[in-house]
Amino acid sequence: MDTNLIISKYYPPGSLSFHVLKTHSQAVARKAVKLAGRMNFSDQEMEFIHEASMLHDIGIFYTSATDIGCMGDLPYICHGYKGHDLLLTEGLPLHALVCERHTGTGLTLTDIDKFNGLLPRRPMEPISESEQLIAYCDKFFSKDLKNLEVERSFESALRGITKYGEDKANIFKEWHQKFNL
Ligand SMILES: [Fe+2]
Repeated sequence: MDTNLIISKYYPPGSLSFHVLKTHSQAVARKAVKLAGRMNFSDQEMEFIHEASMLHDIGIFYTSATDIGCMGDLPYICHGYKGHDLLLTEGLPLHALVCERHTGTGLTLTDIDKFNGLLPRRPMEPISESEQLIAYCDKFFSKDLKNLEVERSFESALRGITKYGEDKANIFKEWHQKFNL
């Protein structure tokens, strides 16, 4: 599967949002494939990890994030489930799950309820190892235009997650034990 074809369908090549999405996703994909290579994933799973890393943020254009060229009208938190719904229409249900399960360390129903109906009420926590690995690697890269490819330290990524609660920080620490071999 050519992820470029899917990305180019929704992001005009040469646009700011295309640049941000591609650069960020490539950085996440590089890290995810590197860490996955030290584990026991099959060739098929390795391919999935690369593809899903490239597509995990495909929903950002539905949101309002003008600094990165996204001119939609939804709050940024919606990019996960919107990407999920988009990839379902592309016939990619497993890649779709990575989209809606990669926000932070995942969204529980309790998290979702705090958004008062903004998000569909279904559990959005990463379950499979590849879903968790991609969510983990994503936390090391920001969408700050000047630092798209700069990998944050584990401590910096952990500080970012801790803002959302100790429970989230603990999940991130568990992933670090599991994936950062
Ligand atoms: Fe991301």
